[in-house]
Amino acid sequence: MSQADGKRLSGEKAAEYVQPGTIVGVGTGSTVAFFIDALARRKHEIEGAVSSSEQSTRLLKQHGIPVLDLNATGPLDLYVDGADECDPHNRLIKGGGGALTREKVIAEASRQFVCIIDASKQVDVLGKFPLPIEVIPMARSLVGRAIAERGGQPVWREGTVTDNGNWILDVFNWRIADPVALERDLNQIPGVVTIGLFAARPADTVIVDGTLRANR
Ligand code: 5RP
Repeated sequence: MSQADGKRLSGEKAAEYVQPGTIVGVGTGSTVAFFIDALARRKHEIEGAVSSSEQSTRLLKQHGIPVLDLNATGPLDLYVDGADECDPHNRLIKGGGGALTREKVIAEASRQFVCIIDASKQVDVLGKFPLPIEVIPMARSLVGRAIAERGGQPVWREGTVTDNGNWILDVFNWRIADPVALERDLNQIPGVVTIGLFAARPADTVIVDGTLRANR
C-alpha cells in the first residue's frame, strides 16, 4: 500500500470515532487533511472542531466546519492527529509540521487521543525522525547547548516561525530509550515551549493504514 493510501484510510477510519453532537479536536498534517475530508461529510452531526493550527483552521473553514476556542469548549471527548513516529507503547514524536504546542494542549484536554498513521511511522524506538522542540527565539542557543550536552544534535529550522511566534530546533541522532524521562527533563530547560515527544500523554488508540492497532 502507498503511504498516501495508508494516510487516507487512517483518516477515514478515525471519522468513525466521532460521536454526534460533540466537538472534535483536530490535529495537523497530510493525514489529518484526509480526516478533515471525512469529517466534512458528517459536519451536520457535530457542533464543531477545535483546531491545532492555522493550517487546519483554514481547511476546516473551507469545509464549513465551525472552529471553536478551547477556552470556551472545556474538555473534549476526542482528539484526532497524525504523528511522525509511533512506538509500540503509543508514544509519539510529533511536530514535523511545526504545530506541536497546540497539538499537545489539545491532546491533554481530550479524553481520547486517536493517532492516525501509515505503516512507515511505526518504530521500535523513537528518535530516527529528528525530534522537534519549540523554543522562544531568544533561547535558541541556550536550549541548543543544553541539548548538545545531553547528546543530541540540534539544528535550527531556519525560516520557520510557529503559529505562536516561536522557533523550532530539530534534534538529530537521538535514540530515545526512555521517552517519558527525556520529555520531563527537556521540559525543565528555560525557553523550551514544547517538546515534540508525546510520551507522558501518549495516544490512546492508534490506527495504522486504516486498521485499529492492538494496544500493548
Ligand atoms: C504536525 C504533526 C503531524 O501530525 C506529523 O508531522 C505527521 O504529519 P503527516 O500526517 O503529514 O505525515 O505532528 O505538527
